[in-house]
Order: sequence, then C-alpha cells, then structure tokens
Amino acid sequence: MTLDIDLTTQDALKKTVAQAAVDYTLGKINIDSIVGIGTGSTANFFIDLLASHKNKFRGAVASSEASERILKHHGIEVYDLNSANEVAIYIDGADETNQYLELMKGGGGALTREKITAAVAQEFLCIADESKWVEHLGNFPLPIEVIPMARSHVAREVVKLGGDPVYRQGIITDNGNVILDIHHLHPIASACAMEEKINHITGVVTNGIFAIRPADILLLGTKDGVKTLYPAKR
Ligand code: 5RP
Repeated sequence: MTLDIDLTTQDALKKTVAQAAVDYTLGKINIDSIVGIGTGSTANFFIDLLASHKNKFRGAVASSEASERILKHHGIEVYDLNSANEVAIYIDGADETNQYLELMKGGGGALTREKITAAVAQEFLCIADESKWVEHLGNFPLPIEVIPMARSHVAREVVKLGGDPVYRQGIITDNGNVILDIHHLHPIASACAMEEKINHITGVVTNGIFAIRPADILLLGTKDGVKTLYPAKR
C-alpha cells in the first residue's frame, strides 16, 4: 500500500506551522502565564521550538503523559490543571478541521485531556498541515474514549447512529480507558449535534469531535506558506 501523503513535506509543514505558533504564542503570554500543550507530532514540534523561550512564561499544562515527558525533558515546569488558575492559550494539532474550526481529534488517544485543557483555556490555537483541511468531518474515524466495561454497549449504540466501531487494540488511555474508532460517519452534517449525541451514550467519557468548543484560530501550514484562519460565519 502506498501513502498519498509525502511525509517529508508534511513534517516540513508541521515544523513551519509550529514556528508560526511559537511566534503567535509569545505575543500572548508573559512571565506569569501557563500555556496548555497538546499531543501529537505537530504539538511535539511546537514544544521543541518553544523550549528555547522557556524563561518567558511560568510553565505548562500537558494534555497527555507523553507531552508531559517531553516538556519536562526540556526543563519546562509542568503544572496539574487543578493548580493552574488560568491557561492563557492552548496549542494543539488536529486530525481534521473544517472552515468553522470544528475539529476531529484523538488520533493519539489523548482526546479527553485535550478537550478539558481546551475548555479551560482562554484561547485555543489549532496548528495543522494542509492535509487536515476538510469540508466535512468524519473521513478520519471518530475516536471515542470509553469506560472499559461499557465497550460493547457503546459499540452497539454507535451502530444505531450509522457508525462502524473498531476497538483500538492494545491501547489504554492516560485515564485507564479504551478507545473505539468510529468509521463511516462521513459526512458529519452537524458536528455539534453528533458530538452531543455521542456524549450522551452511557459509558462514553469523551468523543473526538471538538465542535461545541471549536478552535478560536487555526494556523494552517500550506505549500504557499502559513495561513491564519478564523471560524467562518454561518
Ligand atoms: C492526539 C491528537 C492530535 O492532535 C492529532 O492526532 C494530530 O496529530 P499530529 O499532529 O501527529 O498529526 O488529537 O490525540
């Protein structure tokens, strides 16, 4: 099987967009600020580039144990979200984004802590390469974090919504739960409605649609440079 994405180019776009995000973030924070940090390869590029500015802010809240390890490796202070009065800005990647900056997230399985950090942050900055831009969410299978004993129940309920759940084998989330990836939901006509419907299934902790709280701003890495995008008006 061949991938139709040039990974070298994709990584270059991720790095470029991560640098643009560092520049943007530095304009928003001060020495007392706590920054929310997402999870995934784009977020990792961001952390690596932010590290040389670590004396310009107080520290970070991490959306996963993986990101926490990288932050600590760079000597960036990591705070528990409960002890952070305020998160000035949350920076994270996405698996898909539409023009309303509604996102599909959770490819790395960190969706619950990502959604919590995004909910708390004053501003949510999404960083992505152009392969993530879509008209409608749902081609990327929708990750759902599920309490382990509810796995089969949630899977049956998701089938009633027209989805095709696949158990992500061998993965336990940072919260001790399992992930179901829901295929064949594309096109998701109303991302908010689907996010709510899935949240209401008993046993679901979180789902990977970030539409009720979308991103506030998107830095999109394209071959023509980094585009700064705001949510489209409906
Ligand atoms: C992790 C996520 C990531 O933001 C998403 O999977 C994008 O990852 P990458 O930056 O590696 O393409 O939601 O749970």
